[in-house]
This record gives sequence, C-alpha cells and structure tokens, in this order.
Amino acid sequence: MRAMTVDGSCVRSLQCGAMDVEELGRRVAQDVSGGGGTEGLRRLSGVIAALEERRTAVVEELRRGHEATWEEIGRACGMTRQGATRRWAGRLRARSFGLAVDSYQHGRPGYPQALIGSAVPREARRVLDLGAGTGQLTRLLVEAGLDVVAVEPDETMRARLAATVPGAAVRAGSAERIPLPDGSVDAVVVAQAWHWFDQATAVPEIARVLAPGGTLALVWNIRDESEPWAAELGALMHRTTRQRIDTAPVPPPPFGPPERLEIRWEHPTTAAGITDLVASRSYVIALPEAERARLLADVEHLLATHPDLAGRERIAMPYLTRCTRVRLG
Ligand SMILES: C[S@@+](CC[C@H](N)C(=O)[O-])C[C@H]1O[C@@H](n2cnc3c(N)ncnc32)[C@H](O)[C@@H]1O
Repeated sequence: MRAMTVDGSCVRSLQCGAMDVEELGRRVAQDVSGGGGTEGLRRLSGVIAALEERRTAVVEELRRGHEATWEEIGRACGMTRQGATRRWAGRLRARSFGLAVDSYQHGRPGYPQALIGSAVPREARRVLDLGAGTGQLTRLLVEAGLDVVAVEPDETMRARLAATVPGAAVRAGSAERIPLPDGSVDAVVVAQAWHWFDQATAVPEIARVLAPGGTLALVWNIRDESEPWAAELGALMHRTTRQRIDTAPVPPPPFGPPERLEIRWEHPTTAAGITDLVASRSYVIALPEAERARLLADVEHLLATHPDLAGRERIAMPYLTRCTRVRLG
C-alpha cells in the first residue's frame, strides 16, 4: 500500500502490519496539526471526524451484512464487545429507518398545520428541516410558502423525500455535519429526530448555520394513550423494548429559554397504517426477524379483535404534538 501525506507527497510504502498503519497515523497527525495551536487542533479534529465517520460506515456495513459479531468488531477496534455496542448500536438504530421506508411513509403521521406557526417564527424565510426522513414535516413547510432545505443522512429516506417533496432542496448530511454555510437559515426544525443526534456536536453546528436571532424547534408526535385501545397498542409495542425520549428538552447555550406548545389532534389512518407505524419504529426494525413477525402479527390481531377497532375501515389515531422552541441568544 502507498501512503500519502495530506499535502499529497508520498511518505513511504507500507507493509500491512498494524505497527505500520499506526506509524502512518502518527505521521499524518503530525502533518495535519502542523505547529499545533488551536488551528492545528481544528484541522486535526476534522481529520479525526472524517476517519471516525469512515470507521462507523465500515461497522455499519459489517453489521448490516451480518459479516461480523460485536465481539469481532470490538476486537478489531481495540475495544470490548460492550464498548463497541455502546459506541455504535445506537447510531445503527438511528440510521435504520431506510430499511423500512415504505412502512415509514405509509404509517407515520404528519403534523398538524397549526404547528408551523409555532415552530417557525413569522419573519423566517429560509428553514432547515434537519433529520427530515421521508418529508412528513418538510411537505408542510413547503406548503406554508417557506424556502426549505431538508437534510437527511439515510440515502433511502432521502431519495423518497426528494421524490415526494420536490419543492424542498434535499441534501445529504447530518446534525453533526450540516452541509450549509454559516448563518444561512432563519429557523431549524427537528421532528422526531433530536434524540438521535450527538447533541454535544449538533448544538454548535445548528448554531453555526442559524442567522443571528434564529430559532430551533424540536418536535415530537406522542400517541395519546388516554384512549384505551391506544394504551393497549402502546403496551404491545413496548413489551420487549421501552424507548425513553425526553420530549420537553432544554437545549443548552447558546440557545435561550424554551417556549413550549402542545397540540392535540387525530391522524386518520387504517389498520394497515397502524401496523406500518409499528413496523417503522427503530426498535422494531432492530428485532430478530421471528420476533418482529410475531409482534406485527399480535398488532394485527389487536386491531382485528379490539371492540373499538374491529371491522373499522378508518381509525382516528389520537396524538399530542409537542414543540419546544428556542432562540439563538
Ligand atoms: C424518526 S425519523 C423522523 C423523520 C422526520 N423528521 C419525521 O418527522 O417523520 C428520524 C430521522 O432522523 C434521521 N437521523 C438519524 N440520525 C441523524 C443525525 N445524526 N442527523 C440527522 N438526521 C439523523 C434518520 O435517518 C431519520 O430519517
């Protein structure tokens, strides 16, 4: 293998030994950080982030193809099995939605139109929908006449988003690396995705792309389980995995104090739509196939036999939409 320094000159030919790779890493680190200082630190951090991104992509490939166990991945990275799962299992789940893109688009609810007036201030024009998925919220933003850019890391979700919401500019990227210039948007909205972000990196990155005084809105749709059949559905969905999400977070500085809004509404759906809603949850996508099939069969059974649902063509799923909005201080 030929190894290159960052300025393109060839340092040496490498054997394949681990020591050689480490030596190359040390030389590249030395080269990139130059004389050190905060500028060297910034460049070094950029290289580390890019390498970490690539390492994560390799872990994802290995896990998706069932080519390596967590034990083997941990060993290759000089970590324990637990260390490797702690580091990457959450990220794999965060990026799993594309595996259920049809269920996602068919089963997930949109958002009430009234949300837009609270999530986006009246004076805003340029809006970023971050972690936009298949565009459930993006569509409403475009319909409200806003100039919308939608950023989504998953290729399959992104392709669906571009096809269903042609009025939005769709970009590959993540909350940790937003592909937009500094101060380029008036508002950022994040629907059902904040809990997947690495917030320590995402907060300064969101602040970077916002214009002075810009806003960040964090939105979740929460099933209203005061309806008994919705409570039974919820218990079934979480019988193996309980997902705890803080739906009223307080984003840290440089953002100011939060303003909150809640809207109760109903999503008109069908039994098939509810089964797709369950199939599109990340913890359901992650289940072993037999367990996943059993859960979906049990959901279908509930929908077919519950006295409030059996035989109904249309079902109104009750939701509470919760929005937290903060302004750049
Ligand atoms: C539950 S979906 C929400 C999608 C859409 N906003 C909606 O309301 O339907 C979460 C989305 O966040 C995306 N995502 C996961 N990790 C992300 C990250 N670090 N940065 C940006 N988006 C991320 C996923 O690919 C997925 O499309």
